[in-house]
Amino acid sequence: MTVFLYGPPASGKTTLGRRLASAIGGEFTDLDEAIVASAGKPIPEIFAESGEAVFRKLESQALEQVSAAVGKFARSVVALGGGTLLDEKNRALCERVGSVICLEAPNADELKRRLEKDGRNRPLGDKSVERAAHYSSFPARLAASFDLENSLVLVGRAIAPTFLEGLPCVVDENVRRLHGERLSRVVDVIPSGETHKTIATVTGIWQSLAKAGLGRRDTVAAVGGGVTGDLTGFAAATFMRGISWVNVPTTLLSMVDASTGGKTGCDLPEGKNLAGAFHSPRLVVIDADFLKTLPSAILRDGRAEMIKHELIGGRQCGVEKGETVGPEAIAENLAVKVGIVREDPFERLGKRMLLNCGHTVAHAVEKLSDYTITHGEAVAIGCVEEARLAERMELAQAGWADEVAAVFAAEGLPTALPDGMDWSKLKPVMRGDKKRSGDVVTFAMPCGWGDTRLVKVDLSESAT
Ligand SMILES: NC(=O)c1ccc[n+]([C@@H]2O[C@H](COP(=O)([O-])OP(=O)(O)OC[C@H]3O[C@@H](n4cnc5c(N)ncnc54)[C@H](O)[C@@H]3O)[C@@H](O)[C@H]2O)c1
Repeated sequence: MTVFLYGPPASGKTTLGRRLASAIGGEFTDLDEAIVASAGKPIPEIFAESGEAVFRKLESQALEQVSAAVGKFARSVVALGGGTLLDEKNRALCERVGSVICLEAPNADELKRRLEKDGRNRPLGDKSVERAAHYSSFPARLAASFDLENSLVLVGRAIAPTFLEGLPCVVDENVRRLHGERLSRVVDVIPSGETHKTIATVTGIWQSLAKAGLGRRDTVAAVGGGVTGDLTGFAAATFMRGISWVNVPTTLLSMVDASTGGKTGCDLPEGKNLAGAFHSPRLVVIDADFLKTLPSAILRDGRAEMIKHELIGGRQCGVEKGETVGPEAIAENLAVKVGIVREDPFERLGKRMLLNCGHTVAHAVEKLSDYTITHGEAVAIGCVEEARLAERMELAQAGWADEVAAVFAAEGLPTALPDGMDWSKLKPVMRGDKKRSGDVVTFAMPCGWGDTRLVKVDLSESAT
């Protein structure tokens, strides 16, 4: 697998290229460095002494050498120059040898900052506008990346097939049916749905990995929603005492939430997610193209979690109107979770509990409905109910809960407890196994946009 990273000057190709090569266990080559090595002088000097035409000739020669050399490696990443593929011959060569992924230009302020910092080495300056049509002619595009301690997260379009090439993968049955052409080596197909999030399915994955001959140094990919990611991640955490894995989430919920943060596991008859481990995927590849086949009800569940992130991170964290959701909105929304996971990777500081915004009520609603209410619907109801509680406890302004309800309702999500369900029924479920601390339950309570607070609530008190 050879990945050529392309994009406007100062879009971050070299920095990302190094990090990506380490995430996939591959070699990294910087084309500019190869040019400098063969010319024996820095790029600004080549431009000043000989002009752009000579530079382009040297660049094409260096690309030919690099493209021949990468064939020796199983995996490699090459950072190209900002104009390398303007030459059609260069483009054809890269597309024949590997895959080209084009980085989006950073926002104007960031681009200016980078060019000012390193302008001496970028003789052509900002070309993102002038070459916009050229850059957008590359179908595989990267909108954003997040560098977490144990994981690199890529967000884009048409990027998954490159990273799945040759990788043994465990795939959700529906994703296999709808996107089978994007997977080159399937080792297990798992049945869809939460009812299959069991240790029996994990055992099946362990056996498939063994039958496929995977060893301790191998990597497995999960391709599916949160169920597939949680199960495959757990199987990877425990197979041969831990092998590395790549997560390719295919639902909106798993893109903005479940795929990042390292939690893996399965359900037990006694409760959800009771067995598991922290085991971060080396690489998370979020490819918005998978969303094209996602049924609208499942997309809507994902939007509920996106709104939850807005309650934590602030309004306008990427919730987009319309039938689908693009990589920019996904990246913006995911940034809320990434920020929290960075601060509290193993849920030891309490910070990560903020991600449970609305979830104390949501879990009780799901359970009381016997799971006929989906998780996303329960999150919408839970956030609104907890916002109402915040108002009653004078932690939020009057009208706050109605404002939250209107945002969920605009996405077609329910905002009120179903008939026959009220707080007197929710309370015993919310106390759950936390009876030892009496009636006190900690809520991650939405009190305003970007203002979710951990609040201890005594359920015997009148506010509830
Ligand atoms: N690990 C974490 O931090 C974390 C966080 C949140 C949720 N979760 C877990 O995630 C799970 C929920 O995830 P989910 O909502 O993705 O559910 P899911 O994995 O069950 O997927 C939902 C449905 O969508 C189908 N599907 C998946 N991708 C598709 C596509 N591209 N096109 C068409 N259909 C597709 C699946 O077959 C399934 O029927 C729960 O088990 C939850 O506990 C984990």
